[in-house]
Amino acid sequence: MIYGIGTDICDVRRIRASLERHGDRFAEKILTDAEFKTWKARSARWPERGVRYLATRFSAKEAFSKAVGLGMRMPMTWRACEVGKLASGQPVIVLHGALKAWCEARGLSAHVSVTDETDYAASFVVVEQKEEKKHE
Ligand SMILES: CC(C)(COP(=O)(O)OP(=O)(O)OC[C@H]1O[C@@H](n2cnc3c(N)ncnc32)[C@H](O)[C@@H]1OP(=O)(O)O)[C@@H](O)C(=O)NCCC(=O)NCCS
Repeated sequence: MIYGIGTDICDVRRIRASLERHGDRFAEKILTDAEFKTWKARSARWPERGVRYLATRFSAKEAFSKAVGLGMRMPMTWRACEVGKLASGQPVIVLHGALKAWCEARGLSAHVSVTDETDYAASFVVVEQKEEKKHE
């Protein structure tokens, strides 16, 4: 059954401004090590693609935080929620650490979709719960 849904819209200009102010430190705070590598590679080829990558990850993580009902509160942290990619290009949520354990204990799994256009990036997340677990 559906446990929760979450959505988020992110202003790409704010992400660009934070990157200009704080540089890599800002990306390091939001991204997991694997995402950071991808961000670095994209930014090196075309800085604007890096900004957009970071903006979509930012919105996907916020949308996930809403779908599980935690908001940005423990065990939900930026770096515990990773947006990975299947060979087809489809994004997937990959969880780490205490957040992974929290979701596993509740039988939760997530589906994510991201989009961006000029000044905005947006994401939608659906969190599913295995039938045998009770909603907590
Ligand atoms: C959820 C959160 C990440 C969104 O922050 P944001 O990007 O500044 O704001 P957005 O406009 O994208 O989203 C706000 C909406 O998220 C929703 N939201 C807030 N907390 C939520 C939660 N725990 N779970 C799911 N959705 C939540 C609300 O509908 C809110 O809109 P509303 O206040 O008009 O009802 C942030 O509010 C958060 O981390 N909240 C929980 C912790 C917190 O700060 N609590 C403060 C009160 S003690």
